[in-house]
Amino acid sequence: MPTRTRPFTSWPIFGDAEEARLLRTLRSGNWGRLDGTEVEEFEHRFAAMHGCRHGVAVVNGTVSLRIALLAAGIRAEDEVIVPPYTFVSTATAVIEANAIPVFADIDLQTFNIDPAAIEAAITPRTRAIIPVHFAGQPADMAAIMRIAAAHGLVVLEDAAHAHAASDRHRPAGSLGHVASFSFQSSKNLTCGEGGIITTNDDRLAEACRSIQNCGRVAGGIWYEHHRISGNYRLGEFQGAVLNCQLERLEAQTNTRDANGRYLASQLASLPGIYPQLRTASCTRHGYHLFMLRLDAREFGAPRAAVIAALEAEGIPCSAGYGFSLPQQPLFRQRAFGPYLSTAAAALDYGSVRCPRSDRLCREEAVWLGQELLLGPREDMDDIARAFAKVHAHRAALSSRHLEAET
Ligand SMILES: Cc1ncc(COP(=O)(O)O)c(C=O)c1O
Repeated sequence: MPTRTRPFTSWPIFGDAEEARLLRTLRSGNWGRLDGTEVEEFEHRFAAMHGCRHGVAVVNGTVSLRIALLAAGIRAEDEVIVPPYTFVSTATAVIEANAIPVFADIDLQTFNIDPAAIEAAITPRTRAIIPVHFAGQPADMAAIMRIAAAHGLVVLEDAAHAHAASDRHRPAGSLGHVASFSFQSSKNLTCGEGGIITTNDDRLAEACRSIQNCGRVAGGIWYEHHRISGNYRLGEFQGAVLNCQLERLEAQTNTRDANGRYLASQLASLPGIYPQLRTASCTRHGYHLFMLRLDAREFGAPRAAVIAALEAEGIPCSAGYGFSLPQQPLFRQRAFGPYLSTAAAALDYGSVRCPRSDRLCREEAVWLGQELLLGPREDMDDIARAFAKVHAHRAALSSRHLEAET
């Protein structure tokens, strides 16, 4: 009998409020952001909740990264430091800003970019750093901001996993110079597809606003365009859904935070299981993912067998990214399309070494999705029981796995 037969909380969560607001928007006929007030209202509320004066909503969390880089004045062939353990957009947004991503390895306990690796990656061409608040836990922003100040670099937080997370009680999204969030379907705040840029810098905000709206400027005439840009405006239906979802975010974040902390404490006693280390300065973890490292030797069974066994026990989980970003075909072949500058063409991403990220991808990472953390504490007990059961049967698992391999 599997440990868990009932489904976990399903995602997204919505109800009458979303239905009513969507219908109101539909019937208003004001469907575009230039026609209605939903997106504008959401920008104000989201920015305020994340400790910022400005929010600029856009079509997704990839475009928001790129717009933030352009607004910050990144130029062709500038270098931008990014982690290798992240969704591909963190690095492709840099390429699409006509700049060059440079990889700095992560820390194996927090899974966030390692400040020492950032320092080692800095060259005279470095202009910016994009720390990702991986799985929803803020990166080491105190150290990163110190490095940035010493070298005159812009810090763009990739907060796609970190809605409502905080560090020393300061919200993610307000910890660097500018930040980017995603509202894609899996994210902790979603409208299907969407993104937002947050900042307290008036000039950066003005530039982002202009870039998301075809290069128009405040006070300019309608067909007057001041910079290269495009139409990246978010629509009113998404704005309506986000305004409702935002009402739910605070309580959902507290539930995930409490459940994630509890689950980590329940799992930590198993040999070879290392949940993401919670830093002393993390005052609220976003838990877009509950992530852990599985040391197969200490645990007594390989990751693939453990994941298959957990699935069989009714616990949805995965191994996450299959490659560190420099190992992706995109980078190995430098398939950068029209962005293949002379400097980029001279790079050999195949020789970039990020051994800690590689270890997570190839052998050790295990991910559980944020929706698993939205149920009652008994759900966490079920997850912990399943891990313990899989550990108890590790010898059988291991031999079955070896047989399957040979
Ligand atoms: C870390 C990270 N950055 C950026 C993105 C890109 O967001 P989007 O899918 O909204 O373009 C994602 C999400 O998928 C992500 O996980």
